[in-house]
Amino acid sequence: MSSSPDTVAREVRRRRTFAIISHPDAGKSTMTEALALHARMISEAGAVHGKAGRKATVSDWMEMEKARGISVSSTALQFNYTRTEAQPDTEPTVINLVDTPGHADFSEDTYRVLTAVDAAVMLIDAAKGLEPQTLKLFQVCRHRGIPVITVVNKWDRPGQTPLELIDEIAERIGLVPTPLYVPVGIAGDFRGLYDRRSGRYIKFSRTAGGAKIAPEELLDAHTAANVEGEAWTAAREESELLSEMGQDHDQELFLAGETSPMIFTSAMLNFGVRQLLDALVELAPAPAGRTAVDGTVRAVTDPFSAVVFKVQAGMDSSHRDRLAYMRIVSGEFERGMVVTHAQTGRPFATKYAQAVFGRDRSTVDTAYPGDVVGLVNATALAPGDTLYNEPPIEYPPIGSFAPEHFATLRARTAGKYKQFRKAMDQLESEGVVQVLRNGTRGDASPVLAAVGPMQFEVVTARMLAEFTVETDLEPLGYSLARRTDEASSAELDRQRGVEVFTRTDGALLALFSDKWRLQYIEKEHPDVTLEPLVAAA
Ligand code: G4P
Repeated sequence: MSSSPDTVAREVRRRRTFAIISHPDAGKSTMTEALALHARMISEAGAVHGKAGRKATVSDWMEMEKARGISVSSTALQFNYTRTEAQPDTEPTVINLVDTPGHADFSEDTYRVLTAVDAAVMLIDAAKGLEPQTLKLFQVCRHRGIPVITVVNKWDRPGQTPLELIDEIAERIGLVPTPLYVPVGIAGDFRGLYDRRSGRYIKFSRTAGGAKIAPEELLDAHTAANVEGEAWTAAREESELLSEMGQDHDQELFLAGETSPMIFTSAMLNFGVRQLLDALVELAPAPAGRTAVDGTVRAVTDPFSAVVFKVQAGMDSSHRDRLAYMRIVSGEFERGMVVTHAQTGRPFATKYAQAVFGRDRSTVDTAYPGDVVGLVNATALAPGDTLYNEPPIEYPPIGSFAPEHFATLRARTAGKYKQFRKAMDQLESEGVVQVLRNGTRGDASPVLAAVGPMQFEVVTARMLAEFTVETDLEPLGYSLARRTDEASSAELDRQRGVEVFTRTDGALLALFSDKWRLQYIEKEHPDVTLEPLVAAA
């Protein structure tokens, strides 16, 4: 029996689904653990602080799971959280933290994950400021209109000043930070947070090794001035300056992706972590309905629908399972439900739906919009696919992302060509890699295009393990792709350092050796169509 729309609406209101975007080493796993600590999923942090002894191939979350005995999947962590200031009878908020792969796994998957969330936390190292991977991921958030909360982490270590960091973000990415709190004490001397909205001071105390939730004292401005002296005055002045520049939180501008509430933290000491959770509950949007290909909008309380955003195949040849992760868009999901796969029109039985989140890893019985569910042996499903209960609906494809790495691939032995072709189709349909072809190169050695080079390794490893095809991969000297059209391709083909390909979805892509080549051609041939590719969706 399905729940009423009222139940679904209530469940949706108390859900928040987000991802942390950051550059490696900014503290994403430490913060994840700190969040789990504050949600009381674990009683002590410290198991995963530091990378010593970690296997490069094991995700941080798996390591955390092993070390702490809590169940987290490599894809989504779900926990309940109740704000300290909430009324006693308030239902806890259900928080879904969707993992973005770390640097080593960097690929299109990272981008796809961002299609499954309603908000992002941009985690920045106080000393390093904005780093390349954060920038790339931020651009995807902007493109998709995902509101971003900025967290300046490692405030317990020397770093830049708050205003320097704020300026850097505003100037380099055009997002206006609106700090909710200003740190009291410079980077390296983190004493507490000045709550700009209430005017109060939250003073933190360290715990041994940062293993426990940091005790907080709430002080009024007068007492804070006596206790912290200069550091308090400096924080107040910074806050006033921000207000004069119009950098106070504005919910509408935040949701429009123009401003970003900012918080200063030390994930290692558990300072500011509660404030981050409170901000997610208070400010981040609850799951909303989506627009379908035909322009109709499915509301969250409408019948069940979901979008597949990630497909994971077992790399281990003895484990050929294929897990598809879906984000629920509307309605209630009940395990065992037979839904329809929009792309094929075929029924899809969900009796093997896995609880890829939460404490119970084996099965998921019910889930609501915003939640992530793993479907086992989902061989027919690809990223971007829609699953629904009547009436039919199909969401727009996720779109492919601007590739930056290109290589040709061919089967080592000519006799294996048939398997090679089949494997290529299969891997492409799963979204492992984009495949480009043109008449000059022929079909025996297609060009693979990827966001991260790891994607190539996945292709060659799976070709061998699952299809017993040995392959030779040869990197190509291109680093940039632009979308072009039929009319421009003849002109482009005549140029040096440029090659035009057709992607399987029919898009014409021109590849360039480097940005100077591209700029030269744009200047010399202004009539040629060259559009940047971020995401097609
Ligand atoms: P990542 O997942 O984003 O890659 O980062 P991770 O949490 O693994 O943290 C990277 C390093 O930064 C770790 O140090 C971690 O302890 C440290 N770190 C994370 N948050 C904070 C913080 O708020 N303050 C300080 N001072 N350090 C933080 P490591 O050098 O790899 O190991 P360790 O020997 O320091 O434990």
